[in-house]
Amino acid sequence: MTTNTITITESPQTLSFAEEIFGGLAATAKYLPSKYFYDKTGDAIFQEIMHCEEYYPFGCELEIFRLQTAELAAALLEPGGPFDLIELGPGDCQKSQYLLQHLVRREVEFTYVPIDISENVIDGLRARLPVTIPGLTVWGLNCEYLCGIREATLASGRRKVVLFLGSNLGNMAPAEARRLLRRLRHHLKPGDMVLIGLDLKKCPHVVLAAYNDKAGITKRFNLNLLDRINRELNGNFDTSAFEHFAVYDPASGACKSYLISRTDQQVSLWMDGERRDIWFARNEEIFMEISQKYTIDQVDQLAGQAFFTPVERFYDGRRWFVDALWRAEKRSI
Ligand code: AVI
Repeated sequence: MTTNTITITESPQTLSFAEEIFGGLAATAKYLPSKYFYDKTGDAIFQEIMHCEEYYPFGCELEIFRLQTAELAAALLEPGGPFDLIELGPGDCQKSQYLLQHLVRREVEFTYVPIDISENVIDGLRARLPVTIPGLTVWGLNCEYLCGIREATLASGRRKVVLFLGSNLGNMAPAEARRLLRRLRHHLKPGDMVLIGLDLKKCPHVVLAAYNDKAGITKRFNLNLLDRINRELNGNFDTSAFEHFAVYDPASGACKSYLISRTDQQVSLWMDGERRDIWFARNEEIFMEISQKYTIDQVDQLAGQAFFTPVERFYDGRRWFVDALWRAEKRSI
């Protein structure tokens, strides 16, 4: 096998960082898109979150990949033949590397296609993977998920297996998650597979603590987006004038993070050479992120709603997290 790393392709994004940020801050109910948490500093803070005591989802899914590698591989390989293993939002690949190593060792014919909006992530994988997993063929795509999927399906007619791990889908509200899954399904062929990692509903105290850690790492993660706006849009956010606030609603399964303005204040940022002012009232919130939790029945429903058939489930020992394997149904949509 050869080590073959293909150059990253840039794909156009519909709205720029500045447009999305200003759109969110100018809205009546202010919000910021959590996908922008992940600049170089944000990636590093997220690493800290994953290893902090309260944040369980990472450890749960790592356990699944570490202890059930052979079973996962067998399920993904079942239809047979060469394939493209696409990973949406791979991070540093800590979980999927078990699977990648297993497949390379067994000399399975596949290309690993990590897709991430963070250039930092894709550059890191491009440098590291050929060293840590010699023989792995990698094609990294630095773009949004669906652009990458489209590109990967245009580039090869091979069977696709899509890894969508880490409860990344949970960072969308359920309706938006359904829409994304349907659009994903639209790019796949019958028989293609998705392995989706979702965090399950559990003791509400456990969930809330994961997004409100004692060391304040999640708080820094949220505030870093204000710092990023200061850096990239010449903004003047005073991060000490905002407080982090997380809530979990056990009925809906929605865990939400907010930044709360401690005082009446005005913040400015620059867009297209023009200064834009934003007013915050004392105690006004900016909605930062949703981390949606599901029941296992809801996970199966989600599959059906997006025209997939549930095939197999892989749980951690505590059943706090699931990696659900779905197959694209034979139907035209
Ligand atoms: C990436 N994503 C699944 C994480 C989550 O659990 O929602 C992001 C995160 N936000 C705060 N802590 C972790």
